[in-house]
Amino acid sequence: MNVNVMTHPLIQHKVTLMRDENTGSKDFRQLLDEITLLMGYEITRSLPLEDVEVQTPLTKMVGKRIAGKKVGIIPILRAGLGMVNGMLELIPTAKVGHVGLYRDPATLKPVEYYCKLPSDVGERDFIVTDPMLATGGSASAAITLLKEKGAKNIKLMCLVAAPEGVEEVNKQHPDVQIFVAALDEKLNEHGYILPGLGDAGDRIFGTK
Ligand code: PRP
Ligand code: URA
Repeated sequence: MNVNVMTHPLIQHKVTLMRDENTGSKDFRQLLDEITLLMGYEITRSLPLEDVEVQTPLTKMVGKRIAGKKVGIIPILRAGLGMVNGMLELIPTAKVGHVGLYRDPATLKPVEYYCKLPSDVGERDFIVTDPMLATGGSASAAITLLKEKGAKNIKLMCLVAAPEGVEEVNKQHPDVQIFVAALDEKLNEHGYILPGLGDAGDRIFGTK
């Protein structure tokens, strides 16, 4: 299984708070935002740098800056939206595309209902966001869609994953690096992650 599990103590602490059924939507959203910032710090580690001359109050020096790499954030609707603000705080110039998929409760297969991507898909590095990687059907479908539109470099960023979902994405998209805050035990008979945190979209948006 090929997955990066981000085990920083702050991330583990915050994921535990999110799992608690007594955590309400406001705190759930804030914790997701904070974890996105912590994960985003690592996920963006490979962004290329270039030299730039800067005049400090004392002297000239050559510093570093991000080498103008174009980044695209692709939330899988709805729950992936909860990770967008954190990523935009880190990379304010990123463009945001949206892929609308819902999981059919009977078949557990993803159903596409919306797709709007930046026009220069081929030139961007993409980070697909979705808090939950369960069967892996939604993430795989979103990545396939991005590739069909010309995307070449894609990372997947999730909060909680089941081993089944990681294996499915590994199988369908071996080129895609997966980053998660927690790798859980398994799926239940309804395709929910155990122990998980329930329905992420409902918890973010306060729906049921
Ligand atoms: C959830 C979640 C993922 C998907 C994961 O979305 O946010 O997109 O299920 O399941 P999978 O790995 O088995 O495909 P859901 O379909 O509940 O839609 P929502 O985000 O609108 O709540
Ligand atoms: N989608 C969720 O929101 N939670 C799960 O556990 C599985 C799919």
